Amino acid sequence: MDARKFIDKQVAEIRKTVGSDKAISALSGGVDSSVATVLAHRALGPQLKAIFIDNGLMRENEPEEVKAAFSQLGLNLEVVEAGAEFFEALQGKTDPEEKRKAFRYAFYKVFGREVVKSKARFLIQGTIAADIIETRSGVKTQHNILEQIGIDPEKGFGFKIIEPLKDLFKHEVREVGRELGLPEIIFQRMPFPGPALATRIIGEVTPEKVELVRKATRIVEEELSPLRPFQAFAVLMNDMATGLAAGQRKFGHIIIIRSVESEDALTAQPTPVPWDVLTGLARRITTEVPSVVRVAYEITSKPPATIEYI
Ligand code: XMP
Repeated sequence: MDARKFIDKQVAEIRKTVGSDKAISALSGGVDSSVATVLAHRALGPQLKAIFIDNGLMRENEPEEVKAAFSQLGLNLEVVEAGAEFFEALQGKTDPEEKRKAFRYAFYKVFGREVVKSKARFLIQGTIAADIIETRSGVKTQHNILEQIGIDPEKGFGFKIIEPLKDLFKHEVREVGRELGLPEIIFQRMPFPGPALATRIIGEVTPEKVELVRKATRIVEEELSPLRPFQAFAVLMNDMATGLAAGQRKFGHIIIIRSVESEDALTAQPTPVPWDVLTGLARRITTEVPSVVRVAYEITSKPPATIEYI
């Protein structure tokens, strides 16, 4: 793929499709939606509005970084603070699919509220080839949010969906991002799922658990980023286990570290992390997040495991 030619072609196509109408983009700050948003912005300028929903489930400083990066690009960005609504939707849910659906419902409620206010006729989505393949084969159910919950965006809102990246795989999306002049902090980001840290908490998602897994995630990213894995993160288990502190029994949390190598996210292998890096990680996590008493490293490929835990 020639990134420059791809951009020229997509910019021309988006302009032709949208004409003099308005378009809206749901920006999560992940690589795909960021690249799709900047591509559409190049095509449409002020005819595009990007909506960034702060769902309260993002990584440390992520909302601030995304807001700052996109404000600098001169984009028309609307930030919607909606953490409370997401936590409310997730409250009491423990089943993985129920959690995904609750997230999607909250997303749709918040996003839908914002878009009906606008007079946009097009919705830009960062769907990529792997999403389509996995959605079709039934592996995951997240993408094409509106259509998957049985809403035809055109009938419901008078929207048409534009998916400029639907034929690209992740590494190609990054090339396009680089060519578009996105800051490296955005296009070199590890893939991060739409439901954010909710996918990395087994059992009920609460603000306390999010805070815990967020801290562990930062430590994992700091320690493993130098190895440049495809994706590395922390997962909080639902069970607790016995440990000890100052000679006393201490019942605490279990964190799993997941780090994988992959090209397209359809298959993945565990990163061969050096032993001293792993033991250093266990030390840092149990010290800096003292309610954690055990840290384990996950060694399963995809398949049979998936990359995320829910
Ligand atoms: P799995 O867990 O299916 O993940 O092996 C494959 C890739 O997709 C990401 N992922 C998601 N991305 N919404 C997304 O936008 C989701 O619901 C979702 N679930 C998984 C995952 O992080 C990995 O890169």
